[in-house]
Amino acid sequence: MKQKLLSSKVESMLNELIGEELKAMYFYTAVANWCQDAGYLRAFGFFREESADEKAHSEVLQQYILDMGCVPDLMDIEEPESDFSSLTDVIYSAYDIEVELGKKYAKFAQELSSTDGLTFTKIQEFTKIQTESIGFYGDICSVSEGLATSKFEQLKLEEILVKTAK
Ligand SMILES: [Fe+2]
Repeated sequence: MKQKLLSSKVESMLNELIGEELKAMYFYTAVANWCQDAGYLRAFGFFREESADEKAHSEVLQQYILDMGCVPDLMDIEEPESDFSSLTDVIYSAYDIEVELGKKYAKFAQELSSTDGLTFTKIQEFTKIQTESIGFYGDICSVSEGLATSKFEQLKLEEILVKTAK
């Protein structure tokens, strides 16, 4: 007979992280829409892809729960921030979100290291993803330091954002 291989504590933490990934998906969709409206057309495409990546992350976690004989619980997703003052503002917000999520994964990984080896191994994929995202947005934050919010300079920032992502 199939077993449920997750403790209820681990299951609820995984569900919370699925919610966080979906929240990030929603956030990047709002960001993409803002970019399109503000005339940052390449950033629009970039953030659309970011949104799709976040959905894919949530699906990896959902699949893991299913593989462990349990069923994911989907939570409500709150309305994302959607009003930004500049592309720089967008970059700082994305950086903050990725850092917060990175801390959540790290805390969870710490708890799992002595209690649940299977989930610990799975979660390490995500701490790696978060580390890369934090590094990426941190670099773009550095680029935007000292840049004005004039359209010309913001378009330069957009160019570097899209180029660095490749
Ligand atoms: Fe993610």
